Amino acid sequence: MTKTQNFAVLGLQWGDEGKGKIVNFLSPNFHATCRFQGGHNAGHTLIVNGKKLILHLLPSSICEKDALSLIGKGVVLSPNDLFEEMSEANTFLEGVEDRLKISSACVLILDHHKKFDQCREKSNSFKTIGTTGRGIGPAYEDKVGRRAIRLVDCFYEKILEEKLRENLDFYNFMFNKLFSVEEVSFQETFEKALSYGERLRPMTKDISKLIIEMNNDGKKVLFEGAQGALLDVDNGTYPYVTSSNSSAAGIASGSGLGPLSVINILGIAKAYTTRVGEGPMPTELFDDIGIHIAEKGGEVGATTGRPRRCGWFDAVAMKKVIQSNSIKSLCITKLDVFDGMESVKICDSYDNSDEFFEESLNLDHVKPQYIELSGWKKPIHGLKTLDDFPKEAIEFISKIEEVCGVSVDIISTGPERESTIFKNEVI
Ligand code: GDP
Ligand code: IMO
Ligand code: MG
Repeated sequence: MTKTQNFAVLGLQWGDEGKGKIVNFLSPNFHATCRFQGGHNAGHTLIVNGKKLILHLLPSSICEKDALSLIGKGVVLSPNDLFEEMSEANTFLEGVEDRLKISSACVLILDHHKKFDQCREKSNSFKTIGTTGRGIGPAYEDKVGRRAIRLVDCFYEKILEEKLRENLDFYNFMFNKLFSVEEVSFQETFEKALSYGERLRPMTKDISKLIIEMNNDGKKVLFEGAQGALLDVDNGTYPYVTSSNSSAAGIASGSGLGPLSVINILGIAKAYTTRVGEGPMPTELFDDIGIHIAEKGGEVGATTGRPRRCGWFDAVAMKKVIQSNSIKSLCITKLDVFDGMESVKICDSYDNSDEFFEESLNLDHVKPQYIELSGWKKPIHGLKTLDDFPKEAIEFISKIEEVCGVSVDIISTGPERESTIFKNEVI
């Protein structure tokens, strides 16, 4: 039995809760950080020495010189985009390639997955989801359809040839018959995939074995969620979700570990709610307050540059994901965005809901009911201790704790790593 306690940071809303900032803040306490699901649809923002860095595939610990960055088998990997991100990171970080370890079981995203994603989003025959257009859905569809190309396949020419032919037969049929667009060349895709294999092979490791060895040596690993619990394919607002298990259930399967390998899970939520793309969002604001929050919070997608929809904190959806993610500890980010507002609201119940809507998170027709609280005049932006907090900001946090039934242990007051307050110890 290992005494080591691994730790996870998960987004609890529709993504962009500030996971990157918090992982970067916590990562000096860990020997490695592991991404276990999603792909380069993620956009995690860090401020490192005053410079803004947006990570899509690289774990947010990449700046820690002594820590490893791990990519588990549940991640869908676009080699091209990874290389681009690595070369950007290399311009101001040393040894990126040496610190990065990737599972050979990762499913690959190749050009035709992106093309398919984009064709389907544009087609009138399919529901528009508002995806990032990066091929995430098709790659996961390949995985469950048992036709995926995995990184390991690129190490063996004969195996790759056989698998890629089958895979491209499927896609080219769809491109031709369904979307009436040009087919994808087998030879070109094959050569590219072989070259990806060659370049990635030295970075490849058995990630589950590595984590178990680290734990046995008393080293702790931090698991970094991508997207958010409400975008989870099983527990989110289906079908307006991403295609992976972005909630706690994905940690074990996506890293090849047992379900008890991570006991401490920190849930991250903004003081309000945002969403990019289509799908229900009960507390969405269509008025000046929504515009004010979007502007002050800089709510523009880190991956696609699309404006994020903004609304009040939804404690009903939050309570549901607290249960489905075994959350005992919350981190509330972007509380500073409320500085100077007259009043703030929290949605504590829905009208027009029933057991079936709740089970399926079908939020299309629910009507949010709100508690209204006083805002605060004295800004909290950048504060590093609770001593200087206005009582109204403390009351807002206490109300979240009361309605959601879990304690808020970390409060974030700005995008920089230092603008973070431990209300209670979590690690
Ligand atoms: P992630 O995908 O969960 O990592 O979040 P994103 O990076 O996509 O979006 C969060 C945005 O909010 C980024 O621009 C962060 O720099 C910024 N941010 C994070 N925490 C805070 C905070 O407490 N206050 C403010 N004002 N900005 C924050
Ligand atoms: P981070 O990790 C916010 C959303 C897309 C779309 C849906 C499906 O930065 O929080 P996909 O391309 O995954 O098939 O798109 O999921 N989405 C995100 N929204 N933050 C993200 O990641 C997201 N990743 C995907 O906008 O609605
Ligand atoms: Mg993001």
